[in-house]
Amino acid sequence: MAISILVGTNRPLARSLEIGQYYQKRLQARGEKVQLLSLDELPPDFAFSALYQAQGKNEKFNAFVEKFVASEKFIFIVPEYNGSFPGILKTFLDGLPYPSPLRYKKIALVGLSTGVQGATLALSHLTDIFHYLVAEVVAHKVRIPEVHKQFQNQDFINPIYPKIIEEQLDLLIGVPQV
Ligand SMILES: Cc1cc2nc3c(=O)[nH]c(=O)nc-3n(C[C@H](O)[C@H](O)[C@H](O)COP(=O)(O)O)c2cc1C
Repeated sequence: MAISILVGTNRPLARSLEIGQYYQKRLQARGEKVQLLSLDELPPDFAFSALYQAQGKNEKFNAFVEKFVASEKFIFIVPEYNGSFPGILKTFLDGLPYPSPLRYKKIALVGLSTGVQGATLALSHLTDIFHYLVAEVVAHKVRIPEVHKQFQNQDFINPIYPKIIEEQLDLLIGVPQV
């Protein structure tokens, strides 16, 4: 699959999943091959059964990772939890093989929050990590503060969001800029 969208939380009924579905539709409308994966599909005990000495031993975790890393490009949907990104997302990254399968891959970041930050710090923290892993983070990051007001009935209230999302997707896909 050309592009993987990863929902960066396992919270039931997460708004991140809805934003991921929005991105999936936008990419499908462009004719892109895209898959939507969510951390809520991981085995609940993966922190204990798939990391460190147990690396490679959890078949369900391995299958998820194999599917995920088969892509050339990635979109991470990142909710703001306690001023950063969710712990489960870091645990997932810590469970990936070394050297990182994200090495040299292109990653677009999308942050959302009910507060006014739009996960700005979370995206900054993740950018540091992805650069450490030698991934290429798309410069144009989308931040959606007050997501509960801005995103309703599977669409954005403020037309600025669809516009900046299309611009971000142009950069991820490599559409020439004029
Ligand atoms: C553990 C936890 C911590 C959170 N911390 C913050 C926060 O620091 N700032 C904020 O604006 N929203 C915070 N939220 C609210 C999320 O931004 C909100 O749930 C939003 O819808 C995005 O997350 P979701 O994909 O889980 O729905 C937090 C939510 C949870 C579950």
